[in-house]
Amino acid sequence: MHIRSARSRALTVIVSACALALAAMIPGSGGAVASSKAADIESKVNALLAKMTTDEKLAQLQQMVGGGTDVQEAAKAGKVGAVFGVTDAAQVNQIQRLAMEGSRLRIPILFGYDTIHGFRTTFPIGLAEAASFDPAVATADYTVAARESAAVGIKQIFSPMVDVSHEPRWGRIAEGSGEDPYLGAVMAAAKVRAAQGRDYGAPDKVMAEVKHFAAYGGAEGGRDYNQVDISESALRNLYLPPYKAAVEAGADGVMTSFNTVGGVPATGSRQLLTEILRGEWGFRGLIDSDYTAVQELIPHGVAADGADAARVALNAGLDMEMVSTNIATTGKQLLAEHKVSMSRVNDAVRNVLRVKFKAGIFEHPFVDEAAVPGKTMRPADVAAARAAAARSMVLLKNDNGALPLSTSVSKIAVVGPLADSDDLLGPWSGIGRRGDVVTVADGIRGAVPNADVTVTPGCAITGDGFDTPVNNCPEPTEPGFEDVKDAADDADVTVVVVGEASGQSGEAASRQNIDLPGRQQALIDAVKATGKPFVVVLVNGRPLTIPAAHDASPAILEAWFGGIQTGNAVADVLFGKVNPGAKLPVTFPRYVGQVPLYYNHTRTGRPEDPNSKWTSKYADGSSSPLYPFGHGLSYTSFRLSDLSLSAGTMRPNGAVTASVTVTNTGSRAGDEVVQLYVNDPVATIAQPVKRLVGFQRVTLAPGASQTLRFRIDRDSVGFYGNDGKFVVEPGQINVYAGASSEGGLTSSFTIAPR
Ligand code: NOJ
Repeated sequence: MHIRSARSRALTVIVSACALALAAMIPGSGGAVASSKAADIESKVNALLAKMTTDEKLAQLQQMVGGGTDVQEAAKAGKVGAVFGVTDAAQVNQIQRLAMEGSRLRIPILFGYDTIHGFRTTFPIGLAEAASFDPAVATADYTVAARESAAVGIKQIFSPMVDVSHEPRWGRIAEGSGEDPYLGAVMAAAKVRAAQGRDYGAPDKVMAEVKHFAAYGGAEGGRDYNQVDISESALRNLYLPPYKAAVEAGADGVMTSFNTVGGVPATGSRQLLTEILRGEWGFRGLIDSDYTAVQELIPHGVAADGADAARVALNAGLDMEMVSTNIATTGKQLLAEHKVSMSRVNDAVRNVLRVKFKAGIFEHPFVDEAAVPGKTMRPADVAAARAAAARSMVLLKNDNGALPLSTSVSKIAVVGPLADSDDLLGPWSGIGRRGDVVTVADGIRGAVPNADVTVTPGCAITGDGFDTPVNNCPEPTEPGFEDVKDAADDADVTVVVVGEASGQSGEAASRQNIDLPGRQQALIDAVKATGKPFVVVLVNGRPLTIPAAHDASPAILEAWFGGIQTGNAVADVLFGKVNPGAKLPVTFPRYVGQVPLYYNHTRTGRPEDPNSKWTSKYADGSSSPLYPFGHGLSYTSFRLSDLSLSAGTMRPNGAVTASVTVTNTGSRAGDEVVQLYVNDPVATIAQPVKRLVGFQRVTLAPGASQTLRFRIDRDSVGFYGNDGKFVVEPGQINVYAGASSEGGLTSSFTIAPR
């Protein structure tokens, strides 16, 4: 009865996330102005190029790091085009002044930086933001990050990082949007648009350099920098979509990746840089290498020496070399020997200069140092970081309403190595400061000011896991554990905060064992043994294998590295001020031996059958995940109903609309992420068992319903074959609407023959 009246109030939302993404890419009425501005820039680029010597041209292709004397001398001598890693406005101005006053042509330097999930106001890591299934979270982050970066003179950010990955062992899975190409594409486009705006010459905007092109997330064995050997169809269907979405959203920079793809290092891959990026996608921006990636063509074994490496990279289509100096030092020789053409060098220089003109640094090379404080860590930005962190937290388990906690509880024990830790910034945290971090204990104290809150770390996470111990938790019988047990015994409820140190995720932080590091599981077990109520909060940058924590704990909240406001956001969720609504953007395996484990795998001829030995499975345990992609609970409950399709047949270039109603069947307002998947059961190459093609996060009052509509079109059902061609094949398409990648409502339609 209640539900029926709610249904009659049902709202209809006609726009799918995909359509939203597309709408924002269509140039507005400013199209004519933009094209005359582009023509003006092109003529300025060509006029300047005509004045440049070969040395001056090659200098523009050099990117240096830091603000040391080498950089200062190069700036003064006009021997450097770009500099990254300088984050102080006065130092940026000082180096820029050397270039503008010392060099012959007074070409300003382009200053870059790794602004990944915030500059000073640190937001949640990329993986966490993806969990929000809400591009507005990415928009909030990149709007603040762009303003703070631009304030100090940074006009190029090495971001967004959009590498799809099926590898939880890979530390850099923390930076991207997880395992799904569609979710990755939506988040990538949102980040680019927020960073650049309509014109990244604006004082609060920056040029976005999407990375790492391409397929870096496919690192074999999850070992960073390792080779990637994938089919053409996997490259195009799984890995390329987020880079393509970023380019279509206007990203004016692309950074090449360190890895090989099929034996060809990306930094020297003509197929990737020239054929796909420039040719197929029409990219006109700047192609930058990753750090010393040109030099690394030598140890990769595709170049004999520095000159050869420069030749391979330039001829593949690279424009700018980061840190190593092969192009700048051997370019003239390569030109003289006709191993590289002047027209290729001129094109590369044009790509650099065009970005500099668009960034507005010819007109405004210097920044107003006095204005920086007013543009940094504004209260509204800090509030946005808190909301983003809360919106990114995933309720993994919640038995018998263990969460939310009551605010009238009088004694709370906060235990575990991350209970009062400022290590919540996560990897690549810009210039985020530990002193700005609200710890989980701080957040809890703020949320329940009248409660007695005790903090007992029990043990510390001390190193990053290779030469140094990852965790110095004592033996369960030693004093640290006893203190934790006493604290839990003494409290009405215990919040156990466990996970990874920030250095255990991120670049060069791959792990062979993705359990909770050290003895943190024993810590959970010790708290459980007290028999008192407790909940677990996880802080980490990757999926962890935590079946024991799952079995032992009544409730688990995945908080990720949530940035400076993690503690407040955790408290918002723990005490029910915010009802968690995020979903996993990546599968959580039970055991590392199941990896790679991801929802959108293709079918096998022998699907797992528990009653048959000769099927695709492990002899020693389930091949199902602990938590599937898209999983996440709420303090309320939802029901999906009435999945219907606007037509039973779709023309290959047409579209079908799927409608589904979501109802809040519980007693609290809350968010549900309705996920739409398709499957093509008979195709010329095996298709994913499920493929995400749309999602919408909605907030519903208790009893309320909303009917959501999702557009399914050729992009949703077509795929690239191993010949690199996109096809939409006739036949049946199954449609699933669910609250995770498992289960849900089903329907189907048919794609008509051409
Ligand atoms: C190497 C990393 O792979 C890349 O992501 C980063 O942007 C550069 N270093 C510059 O710091």
